[in-house]
Amino acid sequence: MKAVLQRTLHQKLHYLRLPFFQFLRDDTRPVVDRLAFFPCMAGFIMSFGDLNRYVLRDEPTDDEHQDMVNVHTHEDDHHWPWYLEDFEKLGFATPATPVQTLRFLYGEGRLQNRLLAHRLAHLVWSVSPTVRLAVVEAIEETGNVLFEATSRLAASYRATTGVELRYLGDFHFRRESGHAMHTDHAKLAAIQLDDATRSVALARVDQVFGWFRDWTDELLAFALEQIERRARTPSAAASRLQAS
Ligand SMILES: [Fe+2]
Ligand SMILES: [Fe+2]
Repeated sequence: MKAVLQRTLHQKLHYLRLPFFQFLRDDTRPVVDRLAFFPCMAGFIMSFGDLNRYVLRDEPTDDEHQDMVNVHTHEDDHHWPWYLEDFEKLGFATPATPVQTLRFLYGEGRLQNRLLAHRLAHLVWSVSPTVRLAVVEAIEETGNVLFEATSRLAASYRATTGVELRYLGDFHFRRESGHAMHTDHAKLAAIQLDDATRSVALARVDQVFGWFRDWTDELLAFALEQIERRARTPSAAASRLQAS
């Protein structure tokens, strides 16, 4: 598994340099502008609990690696309520009819967000628990990059507004860093893989990062569009969820 973890780290180093993360770290931009991506990720964030609960988890199990995956899923399946909490705190929960909300969630500009959970499910559905573990670790590393960037933004937001963003901020980030995955890195690295399993795991790790890259591109495009829209129509704050 050592080679798989090395590949994951290599992919992570590319991932954290993607335009979306540069945008999040760009201190020349107002914090609220950088947070404009937030509603766009609803589809994926709301699916992530189910992905953990009904796809990654397999209980009961007597497989040691599936057991590690299961422990992880119990940590990660209940974070979406914090997302909804931040959604309100950031003022995105403006009144909309059910049809407007559905139109927003299913609009073309949210395609990657809808697909990502399906794609990740496809990656883990019929593989061994050991490969599953490698996929989970890769997903976690993408989360680590995201939450490291957003926790800085959340700290700035709190400093100016007094409002704590629990999903985007330290509250969540601290829980993400405490994963069994991270504390047991040495244990993971010691797992022996045969050649066939290793190449399946490597390919899937690459696929995780590729699909998450597409996801970040969509979040960035959405944020830039919202910033432009606000600049054109100062009252656009009242229609933040407008689909386009
Ligand atoms: Fe989480
Ligand atoms: Fe996580």
